[in-house]
Amino acid sequence: MTSTSNGTEHATEHATQHPAGHVAVDPAILYFGTPVVLLSSTNDDGSTNLMPMSSVFWLGHHAVLGIGARSHTAHNLRRRPELVLNLASPAVVTHVDRLALTTGRSDVSPWKARAGYVFTPDKFAAASVTPLESATVRPQRVAECQVHLEAVVRQVRPLGARPGDDVDAARQLNVEAEVTRVWVDPAIRLAGHRDRIDPDRWRPLVMSFQKFYGLGDQVHPSRLATIDEDHYR
Ligand SMILES: Cc1cc2nc3c(=O)[nH]c(=O)nc-3n(C[C@H](O)[C@H](O)[C@H](O)COP(=O)(O)O)c2cc1C
Repeated sequence: MTSTSNGTEHATEHATQHPAGHVAVDPAILYFGTPVVLLSSTNDDGSTNLMPMSSVFWLGHHAVLGIGARSHTAHNLRRRPELVLNLASPAVVTHVDRLALTTGRSDVSPWKARAGYVFTPDKFAAASVTPLESATVRPQRVAECQVHLEAVVRQVRPLGARPGDDVDAARQLNVEAEVTRVWVDPAIRLAGHRDRIDPDRWRPLVMSFQKFYGLGDQVHPSRLATIDEDHYR
């Protein structure tokens, strides 16, 4: 790819002419597949809000989350920077789906109202899930999920803001959180290891372009997996 006075245009032109037949497209969203999580945060009255979300990844013991700045969750995390990431599997998809189109904010935004969102103060009741107390943070865990990651917020930054933009006007936030406790259902532990998860037993629920999928079997031996997990400690 050569550099020109208008590098972006040049790159797009190049992509549209690719001999493999790829075409340049402009999707409204880029949700190519990420794990689904029920994020617990603490409401002003001390109860727990649950938000289904899937813009998340982990590096080491830090989670990076993409969260709508006007969500009730963003409001809660700014005031009380503690959360639980309850990881969903296909077994709990009906519970997750009951929380779609709900918000813990009583003043539902015009955009959300037009999309069909409704104010739902008790998300545990709405999703028919059971609260469990956490050990290191205040928000409650979701018993039906097989993995709970308690965490504290380390940084909140506007996502997608450009130099000179009003950071408080950001539509999305990049939230970094440090995991403080990991709980798992014993059914997904790797036999013979105290602290390891068996990826053949743990099957995350995945969201791709707003639809739900599970994972199939392993497709190829992994050279990265030749590194012992304890090497990452
Ligand atoms: C499966 C699923 C995944 C979602 N992923 C995200 C996400 O990654 N980030 C986000 O801001 N909203 C996401 N949403 C939308 C939020 O759940 C929605 O904004 C909700 O109203 C937030 O709840 P709250 O206002 O009570 O915090 C997702 C919704 C569903 C159903």
